Amino acid sequence: MVKGMESVDLIVHSAKQMVTVAGKGPRVGAEMATLGIVVDGALAISGERIVGVGSSSEILRRYRADEYISAAGRVVTPGFVDAHTHLVFAGDRANEFEMRVGGATYLDIMRAGGGIMSTVRATREASLETLVEQSLERLDRMILHGTTTAEVKTGYGLTTEDEIRILAAISVLDAAHAIDLVPTFLGAHAVPEEYADRADAYVDLVVNEMLPQVLAIAGEEADPDVEIRRPVFCDVFCDEGAFDLTQTRRILEAAKAAGLGLKVHADEFANLGAASLAAELGATSADHLVHTSAQDMAAMARAGVIGVLLPGTSFGLGHHDFAAARALIAAGVPISLGTDLNPGTCWCESMPFMMALACRYIGMTPAEALVASTINAACAVGLGDTVGSLEPGKLADVVIHEIPDYRYLAYRFGTNPVCAVIKRGELVVSAR
Ligand code: NIG
Ligand code: FE
Repeated sequence: MVKGMESVDLIVHSAKQMVTVAGKGPRVGAEMATLGIVVDGALAISGERIVGVGSSSEILRRYRADEYISAAGRVVTPGFVDAHTHLVFAGDRANEFEMRVGGATYLDIMRAGGGIMSTVRATREASLETLVEQSLERLDRMILHGTTTAEVKTGYGLTTEDEIRILAAISVLDAAHAIDLVPTFLGAHAVPEEYADRADAYVDLVVNEMLPQVLAIAGEEADPDVEIRRPVFCDVFCDEGAFDLTQTRRILEAAKAAGLGLKVHADEFANLGAASLAAELGATSADHLVHTSAQDMAAMARAGVIGVLLPGTSFGLGHHDFAAARALIAAGVPISLGTDLNPGTCWCESMPFMMALACRYIGMTPAEALVASTINAACAVGLGDTVGSLEPGKLADVVIHEIPDYRYLAYRFGTNPVCAVIKRGELVVSAR
């Protein structure tokens, strides 16, 4: 060993473009396009963490490693962060997809007792083991597409017991799978059929029973080796056919008082004022934002609320309304992307496909879409200091893509660009 060289576990070198996305997040305005690309880049990894980033010659001079991976001719990025998923559910809604293709709308199907409620029925019948088994397959597809961290919502249980079972499933999945999960309590995803016409009584249940019990059970055993995790965030679906602004405020205020971070499904189908409420309450993010006004955008920008845009949902529904990313970015709102992975509106595990949609339908550039899938998404799930960029001290969550230029991430679609994934310093998806 050459004198003065530091020993590390792994070096990834010779990347045609090492896209570090280095620098603080969340990025706003023109900074949303700053990628920090190192040409012929390399990084040194020790244990779970990145210790050095630079040109290949620099890194290979400073460090010697037990293992070397050449990314010659390829693009290296941080692992993607999927900032909005409904990963844990049972069954499918292929029948509803066919009905929508035939002309029925999402809201028609929901009012007829389908939609979220049909997945709630299937999820209530499923055991913890079934939920874990079905969700693991989706996590496998996510990591194959480069996702290394994901937010996961409850919300297909809608009784205290069933919401807790989903939280237990999230905890077991987090322990069992390489992808790190950030749990969100979404007890207010829909008014369940047993509370039809009694939405306020259901909100009482969420505030007075579900939320306290979900928090009280944290730390207890989900299965013999796994503790039930405390949710990091609380979310509410504020929209026509779901919860109104007053109900949303009640739930989010209770969650805030309990110390949870806040998220809200805002303006997906109609603008009820949820994005401005998110700003008022200091929410971490407001998600969807398809019908958000200029005033809402200004309020979000002032409060630093991240806009989590979900172009897969508009696409999945066959809608032609998409979030206005250009106006949001011009207003100074930091933008993140997510899949919204769920069986009703967007069953898609791929962040690169979200980037492809974001560039075509919501006006983002390939660079902005990549920032929105890495550092800004990390901030949207509360992990901006740990993941989302390739910098010394951050977790070694790294993706090697079989492409010569980062713009290909959004330029090509329908095929998977990922050829290797390193999660917390371990090679978990290996080069094809
Ligand atoms: O984000 N809007 C609410 N939740 C999901 C849809 C869930 C479902 O249809 O099952 C969404 O689009
Ligand atoms: Fe959603």
